[in-house]
Amino acid sequence: MHTNVLGPMQLIDAFALSVVDNGGVIAVLSSRMGSIQETTSADSLTYRTSKAAVNMVVKMAAMEHGLRGVTVVALHPGWVRTDMGGESALVGVSESVDGLRQVIGGLGADSNGGFFDHLGRSLHW
Ligand SMILES: NC(=O)c1ccc[n+]([C@@H]2O[C@H](COP(=O)([O-])OP(=O)(O)OC[C@H]3O[C@@H](n4cnc5c(N)ncnc54)[C@H](OP(=O)(O)O)[C@@H]3O)[C@@H](O)[C@H]2O)c1
Repeated sequence: MHTNVLGPMQLIDAFALSVVDNGGVIAVLSSRMGSIQETTSADSLTYRTSKAAVNMVVKMAAMEHGLRGVTVVALHPGWVRTDMGGESALVGVSESVDGLRQVIGGLGADSNGGFFDHLGRSLHW
């Protein structure tokens, strides 16, 4: 909860004004496992709860900073072959990062407050 929720909250506070000045994007690494609607199993309680909470942080930041031209989004990187994702994960690191960069590059004002995966698909909250 400290890393996944309070970390992004503090970073958004620290950097939001400079992002506002540049009409930029704040993209938070969330997870599909934080989607309440898409939850179908009872594993990973703390992780899922932290990502659901950070999704609310994104939504609140989108409300607060969107009015000043900033786009704030939550991103799901896919199931990625990292230390966390493990060797069985479906998506390579480069593929995930390339996808996330493309998604971020293609965001418009109407994307503010959205939740997208690395392929640009909109996810349920
Ligand atoms: N991999 C996936 O399938 C997947 C899926 C959905 C979402 N995500 C999200 O994507 C993000 C990156 O995950 P990843 O797969 O790259 O995980 P990872 O390979 O396990 O790396 C996690 C990173 O977080 C750092 N970290 C962990 N606890 C920390 C703490 N208390 N304070 C500061 N840094 C801390 C680690 O630092 P050290 O190396 O120094 O320990 C490491 O650099 C995470 O937000 C994760 O929830 C990943």
